[in-house]
Amino acid sequence: MKKIRFLVVIVMAGVSLLAFAQSQKRVEPLSKDSIKKVIQAMTLEQKAYFVTGTGMSLPGSPAAEDAAPVPGAPVVGQTQNLVPGAAGTTYEIPELGITAMVMADGPAGLRISPTRKGDSGTYYCTAFPVATLLASTWDTDLVFKVGQAMGNEVLEYGADVLLGPAMNIHRNPLCGRNFEYYSEDPLITGKLGASMVNGVESQGVGTSVKHFAANNAETNRNALNTIVSERALREIYLEGFRIAVEEAQPWTVMSSYNLINGVHASENPDLLTKILREDWGFKGFVMTDWFGGIDAVAQMKAGNDLLMPGSPDQAKAIIRAVRENKLDKAVLNRNIERILNILVQSPRFKGYKYSNKPDMAAHARISRDAATEGMVLLKNDRAALPLSSGMRNLAVFGNTSYEIITGGTGSGDVNEAYSVSLVEGLKGAGFALNEELQKTYGDYLAAAQAKRPPTRQFMLPAPIAEMTVEPALVARMATGADVALITIGRNSGEGYDRKVDNDFDLNDSEKSLIKTVAEAFHTVGKKAVVILNVGGVIETASWRDIPDSILLAWQGGQETGNSIADVLSGKVNPSGKLASTFPMRYQDVPSARNFPGVVLEEAKPEAKVEDEDLMSVFRRPKASRIVYEEGIYVGYRYYESFGIKPAYEFGYGLSYTTFEFSGLSMSSQKFSGRMTATVTVKNAGRAAGKEVVQLYISAPAGKLHKPALELKGFAKTRLLKPGEAQTLSFEITPRSLSSFDPASSSWIAEAGRYEIKIGSSSRDIRQTAAFDLDRDLTVKKESTALVPSVPINELKH
Ligand code: BGC
Repeated sequence: MKKIRFLVVIVMAGVSLLAFAQSQKRVEPLSKDSIKKVIQAMTLEQKAYFVTGTGMSLPGSPAAEDAAPVPGAPVVGQTQNLVPGAAGTTYEIPELGITAMVMADGPAGLRISPTRKGDSGTYYCTAFPVATLLASTWDTDLVFKVGQAMGNEVLEYGADVLLGPAMNIHRNPLCGRNFEYYSEDPLITGKLGASMVNGVESQGVGTSVKHFAANNAETNRNALNTIVSERALREIYLEGFRIAVEEAQPWTVMSSYNLINGVHASENPDLLTKILREDWGFKGFVMTDWFGGIDAVAQMKAGNDLLMPGSPDQAKAIIRAVRENKLDKAVLNRNIERILNILVQSPRFKGYKYSNKPDMAAHARISRDAATEGMVLLKNDRAALPLSSGMRNLAVFGNTSYEIITGGTGSGDVNEAYSVSLVEGLKGAGFALNEELQKTYGDYLAAAQAKRPPTRQFMLPAPIAEMTVEPALVARMATGADVALITIGRNSGEGYDRKVDNDFDLNDSEKSLIKTVAEAFHTVGKKAVVILNVGGVIETASWRDIPDSILLAWQGGQETGNSIADVLSGKVNPSGKLASTFPMRYQDVPSARNFPGVVLEEAKPEAKVEDEDLMSVFRRPKASRIVYEEGIYVGYRYYESFGIKPAYEFGYGLSYTTFEFSGLSMSSQKFSGRMTATVTVKNAGRAAGKEVVQLYISAPAGKLHKPALELKGFAKTRLLKPGEAQTLSFEITPRSLSSFDPASSSWIAEAGRYEIKIGSSSRDIRQTAAFDLDRDLTVKKESTALVPSVPINELKH
């Protein structure tokens, strides 16, 4: 195998910093109150190195390979000092009392090396459910709890900042990192992101809300120029970040790789200063995504305070720019001050003695419970689920039943100690599994594994072709087992977008597996259930009529098999709802026409390196462009406004019980500043369950065109016993009525009649009411920022 001999950084400036130390005057060490004095005492070199991290070895480089705990095990770029396997570290300057800060991925749990050379201890972390699953819980309290557990591992393993949550919008189902992101809707993204930040930071460690902003594709991610209107930015792509910043004040924000309207996000003063700080009041610091952007000096000026993972070249460029008066020292000092303001709160600065022993058993329980809450029951004909007491003998089909996918790949992957497959989970729940079928799959997968090329750094593992099941075997199973389960799996990850064929769409062997098994079981009067172990949206319309039930299990972290078993057995009644639409077909997706953009020029020859596939993740930028022509019509905003029927709509999800909605009442008929909507939800069925109540608003058309409806509030009931009811209240604010008017750079609410729609999904509206707004309101004036330099022919409703 070709090896990469590519080492980015490495020179630890520790040596030179020591030299500076000798010339250092005595100064009061860093404290919350001495930040300005400490900055004054720093030399220019110290300052320049401080705002550029200590660097890291790229995946595949000799340094990273050497550090790999198990030869060949995937190691995303990492640093080795302090917390091995963390993604990045800042320089310490001991003589000034400045400690290092350790930053580690990522959204589904802490990502560090699980083992260390010459150390018999282990440093596994809990793999929690992916963000797409967490979003489907619609439960801010639950996400807070997951955040607490994750943050506790950050603290106890000696890291300072978790590189998450990831809050980009699901603009297109093919984005390879959608599993790390929450939803197609900014309100869910913002509210759950804020809860995650608050949960993690409750442990005294930081978060990095990423990737700011409009990073909605992985193809050419370092050189993709996103052309998008101010209105779509403010209402869709920035709104989730705004909510998280205003409601949770994260310690840090990570700027994204892409360009927005011609300027790299990390070099973009409109984004990082005008919008983030002036409009929203962000108080922490901004770091780049790893190796993001090009011009270190422009990044400093834009308000990208810290460059990660950092390189001596960047530090040198900053030093040169200050000496040549091209970078104002005050800008550098400002950026350092922002970093130090956070650093003094960090556990390493406070001298926290971490244990390296978080309570893994407790966190595994949180992971298991959280996963059950976000699984979505898409179909349940003839009450095939839950599996009744007479349904104990199972025939379990599908490769993924045996090799479960716990989460996606890349920096969002976690090194967990174990993962529970579906078959293990089912056995643990007391089900009997057909031995012959298990053995057939076991032998097939072992043989396929042996032939499988080793997974290289940062790459997706090659999928194993779905096993073809002999009709005679299926017939035997249909006679012997009570019910069939068929799992379909998908994986994706950083650096790559998904494809339509054989990924978004099921392939022929998967479709034939579902058909053959379901037909055989139906022939003898038995049922077949499909389980989707996927990280993002897939096609379901062409095959969904075949099975009796479909459970969208997502990727539930290390306990996935147990969590699925909890839902199948009825121990947990599913209450997950889709936070992204499942369209009938890929071509229905409004961005299908332009995703993932067009390449403007091929990579320059000198940018090519030995291992093209691998390095394309980080380098080989091909200048490319994408125009967000659909404007604000993303996800259900598009489908509902333009009459496109989806396969499963936004907000959809079944339960083992049913709910009745009643008594919607509004605090007044006219809007005068604030208003409350109250509704009662009753469990009208026979199983205890939870319902997600969704509040949509349809606004009158005026100067600004409006989507048919938009989510403006949501809440999940407590576990309601049969017959039990709960009354929920939603607050409607001027912001809920407003849209962004680019002509005046402000959020405006236009006079007219507004409709409130309370539903169990975006298409299952149960209660409606209306109120009037008598006069136009200017809700908030914002900076004029990120104006596209080319006209966009945007979709309007
Ligand atoms: C990813 C980030 C991640 C960083 C550090 C980058 O490649 O885009 O999400 O936090 O690496 O691992």
